[in-house]
Amino acid sequence: SVQPKIGPSILNADLSNLAAESQKLLDNGADYLHLDVMDGTFVPNLTFGHPMVKSLRNKIKTAFFETHMMVQNPEQWIEPMADAGVNLYTFHVEPVQDVVRVSRQVRESGMKVGLAIKPGTEVQDLEKYVSIADVVLVMTVEPGFGGQSFMADMMPKVKWLRDNYPSLDIEVDGGVGPKTIHCCAEAGANMIVSGTAVVGASDQAQVIKEMRDVVRS
Ligand code: DX5
Ligand code: ZN
Repeated sequence: SVQPKIGPSILNADLSNLAAESQKLLDNGADYLHLDVMDGTFVPNLTFGHPMVKSLRNKIKTAFFETHMMVQNPEQWIEPMADAGVNLYTFHVEPVQDVVRVSRQVRESGMKVGLAIKPGTEVQDLEKYVSIADVVLVMTVEPGFGGQSFMADMMPKVKWLRDNYPSLDIEVDGGVGPKTIHCCAEAGANMIVSGTAVVGASDQAQVIKEMRDVVRS
């Protein structure tokens, strides 16, 4: 069956200390790192791109890196992100004309394929693409900022995916923490992104463990 994995989002960490912040999360039990890439166009915020990811990879050799591409043209960053050492390239389907073609390019570049949907996008829109994806990301906030409130009304999407694709890796992102993890686990999510709830915790290891235990049970 699908494995529970906790992937902290470093968006609300001290970005001037990214390597140390990331290493701390990994030492505290993170299964992977969720790196939020924003271009100021697809979302009204700006973060970092492949040069930053590559620098991080030079300091953190073995961790699994996911980039969450909140960008208008995900095709443009496939090669640079593969070169930067990204393992899973998760892009939003909304701005993409040919999801199959972009997915194939991601795979040919050596990365795994993640498909993401915003809260306003129907999960059934993904039906024709799920077979080519390694991960489906159901956003539980409007993408753009950390620290927003979890949207419980996205859980039917997760449940629909789990009912139809028992072995799919299903990821949730936005407002997820110890208070909202039960809902996600019950619906069938197994890859859990958590930003402020983990990064801001006084005991990161405890929060990560607590969430993993809920998903596992
Ligand atoms: C939102 C990002 C999320 C977010 C998670 O656009 O994709 O990864 O930063 O942070 P929290 O858990 O604080 O919502
Ligand atoms: Zn994200």
